[in-house]
Amino acid sequence: MGEQLKEMMDLESQYMMHTYGRAPVQFVRGEGMHLWDDEGRDFLDWIAGIGVISVGHCHPKVVAAVQEQAGTLMHASNLFYTQKRGELAKKLAGLLGREQGNDAWKLFFANSGAEANEGAIKLARLWGRLHRDGATTVLCTIRSFHGRTLATLQATGQERFHKDFLPSVPGFAYVPLNDIEAFKAYIDGPDGPSVAAFMLECIQGESGVWPVEEAYLQEVAALCKERGILLICDEVQTGLYRTGKPFSFQHYGIVPDIVTIATGVADGVPAAAFAATGPVADALKPGMHGTTFGGSLLACAAALATLEVMETEGIEANVNEVGPYLQQKLAGLPHAVETRGKGLMWGLDLDLEIAPQLVNDGIGVGLALNATGPHTLRFLPPLICSKDDVDVMIERLAALITKA
Ligand SMILES: Cc1ncc(COP(=O)(O)O)c(C=O)c1O
Repeated sequence: MGEQLKEMMDLESQYMMHTYGRAPVQFVRGEGMHLWDDEGRDFLDWIAGIGVISVGHCHPKVVAAVQEQAGTLMHASNLFYTQKRGELAKKLAGLLGREQGNDAWKLFFANSGAEANEGAIKLARLWGRLHRDGATTVLCTIRSFHGRTLATLQATGQERFHKDFLPSVPGFAYVPLNDIEAFKAYIDGPDGPSVAAFMLECIQGESGVWPVEEAYLQEVAALCKERGILLICDEVQTGLYRTGKPFSFQHYGIVPDIVTIATGVADGVPAAAFAATGPVADALKPGMHGTTFGGSLLACAAALATLEVMETEGIEANVNEVGPYLQQKLAGLPHAVETRGKGLMWGLDLDLEIAPQLVNDGIGVGLALNATGPHTLRFLPPLICSKDDVDVMIERLAALITKA
């Protein structure tokens, strides 16, 4: 272990709250698919800052946009008009409405996935109060992940996240993903009238990459429409081409009422949003919701540059070409039992409980990996990942699995 890393570990252990069990490596530089540590070792990045680095580390066009904006005006608040906010909203609205052939979406900019989801939950409660006889419950899925604030933690359908932070925020309930009978039983049951919205990730990321089934989502969407229940898609991890389309809901022939966006949108600069269509978006009135940092010029400049790179550098086509190749290679690894996902978002189950050990061992062979459980690895590479990158990773990972 290098001196620099030891020094940083000492500093953090003295002065930082111990909420993460970090891997023993310090990254100091990035470019494209690569990260370098403080000893100059070169890593292929298979987690991309948890899906954040979309067009590659330090993409020159994003860096230039950030540098230019940083030297001009970084932030002036939402109290005033600034140049880039409306432009970014228009771009994202266009991507959200791409499959519908329109851009009738409106956005609110936030700073993180959790904050975007908080906004979506507030909007659902407001809508339910106004238009569904006071309904305020947000029905969520078991095994979901929606963030770490109190309300988004409660929306997260995993009890282990709740128990230390009681009392719980009221107004949340859970059904298993892909179980249409459970969904119907809930909305037809005694608590059904209290449901304002159903919130889901089309592919549950944090809990191990569990995709929604198309028939289930279509039926759920139709039932929501019929009953006046809002459908919220949390696209924090799945959005911005991660799954091979601008947003993952676009694979399923449905249109949600509210969509939340974050990780990949600005290639590393914190930026997030929630979006809604038509009258739902218009339910929020001046003074009802706000943020100091959200929609800063710096975040908007980074996001606009990132979206432009996505459009001009064939990101969607790359994800759709490399994604299936990655899946096929993962499925062929020793001890692989199941692959789940879409595009460049994959979970790999092994028949051995060695995933955390592989993450650790990856450091020694230049792989930045991620485990979501004892036998599950999650792959969220930058969307510029090539087949050659896949081959290099697979060769190194196969050797690690065989040795483990
Ligand atoms: C689907 C989903 N929603 C929300 C969040 C929370 O985002 P943030 O950590 O930016 O608050 C995450 C983070 O991993 C996520 O994967």
